[in-house]
Amino acid sequence: MATWSAPGKVFLFGEHAVVYGKPGVAMAIKPRVYVTVRKTKHPSHPKSPYIDECFKVMGVRGSVYVHSQLQSSSGLGSSAAVTVATLSAINDEFNLGHSRGAIADIAYTIEKKVQHGRASPTDTYVSAMGGLVLITGSSKRRLPPQNLQLVVGNTLVSHSTAKMVEMVGTARKKHPDIINPILDAIGAVTLNALHHIGDPKELGRCMDINHALLEALGVGHPVSSRLIIAARTTGAYGAKITGAGGGGSIIALCPRRAKSRVAGAIESCEGRAIITTIDTEGARRE
Ligand code: PMV
Repeated sequence: MATWSAPGKVFLFGEHAVVYGKPGVAMAIKPRVYVTVRKTKHPSHPKSPYIDECFKVMGVRGSVYVHSQLQSSSGLGSSAAVTVATLSAINDEFNLGHSRGAIADIAYTIEKKVQHGRASPTDTYVSAMGGLVLITGSSKRRLPPQNLQLVVGNTLVSHSTAKMVEMVGTARKKHPDIINPILDAIGAVTLNALHHIGDPKELGRCMDINHALLEALGVGHPVSSRLIIAARTTGAYGAKITGAGGGGSIIALCPRRAKSRVAGAIESCEGRAIITTIDTEGARRE
């Protein structure tokens, strides 16, 4: 029997713009998905196309038990975390000898297949490797970890990443003169944020600007706005949508002492709050 876990992720900066080759920064966060795999003669596992594919690709059969601290469709990378943890547990239980990097690559091919081509390697890479990751085009580079204090606010409005990406693509075709400069500006905010990564006040300002630009792209949602305003007015340094938008989750960068107040404000707007920080481990044997 082998139990492995893998973390969820947030986009700190640059979502949507990364689709057009601009830099983005994602970070693994503490909530995890735990997966136990056991060799058995009578395989059983929860209904999940991701888990089915993991066994198919690895060429083995077994039983699976999943325990998740991440809500699905909340924009926190739960499908990537399930896939990475399942592959890691299969790899261990059946002694297949894949490296962590290979697991990240296989997980990406599975996400792409299950999501009909609409997946970026960000979620699976960040979940497998952990930490803070700079994405530029197809390259991914781990950055020195930062102890950022975050409150995640789940709007409980489920969103479709594919739809939001398509919407931005359509807007860009229709109004290239407007949308391209917004994407460029998001890229510039990401680079500016990287220069101030140790300065939470400046990072918070960058998050606010990034959020305004995401709103300008059309991926905002009234519930996200409500949670973001609640976070800012209760002491967050800054707050923004994380991921594709149109619902999903928001993140607020907070002083340590303000975290529970910000979380309370999010909950009183009927969002679900998670107080969290960076996860530096990635996929881990339990
Ligand atoms: O909704 P999420 O967390 O999967 O993030 C999507 C991020 C986008 O930049 C909109 C798309 C992508 O594949 O990078």
